[in-house]
Amino acid sequence: MAILPILVAPDPRLKTKAKPVEAVDEDLRRLIDDMLETMYDAPGIGLAAPQVGVLLRLLVLDVAGKDEPPAPMAFVNPEIVWESEEMSVYEEGCLSIPSHYAEVERPAQVKVRYLDRDGQKQEVLADGLLATCLQHEIDHLDGKLFIDYLSSLKRNMILRKLKKETTRETA
Ligand code: NI
Repeated sequence: MAILPILVAPDPRLKTKAKPVEAVDEDLRRLIDDMLETMYDAPGIGLAAPQVGVLLRLLVLDVAGKDEPPAPMAFVNPEIVWESEEMSVYEEGCLSIPSHYAEVERPAQVKVRYLDRDGQKQEVLADGLLATCLQHEIDHLDGKLFIDYLSSLKRNMILRKLKKETTRETA
């Protein structure tokens, strides 16, 4: 297993639509394990493949509470097939937008169809943190970030700060 470098906005790869996974094979399972290790190391509760520069429709997450055993999950080619009219608001963050948080309103429940790490078709009816996290990560697969839900004024302020920080690090 390996810890992969996480891209930080405004990297253009984070704004690119990812392609469907064609085969759930050993290479993909290795990528899933590396992404999980990268996510736990960060630490974060979700990570999408484009965040590590792989433009495939794949994400991992673990929304288990602090006192619960780890519950790693992998979603290959996830698709939202139903969303509730009821909405909920969570304060979201993102490993690709470090140190910035904002409230985002999304459907409170979603039904997601996906393939698991064995390539088996699965469906989950998610609510609470899992529903929010799944929607946030699936957005990554379409090149969408949580700051895209904010006003352009707020979004540009965050992007300017991130750009300044990244330039400073590499200077
Ligand atoms: Ni994110």
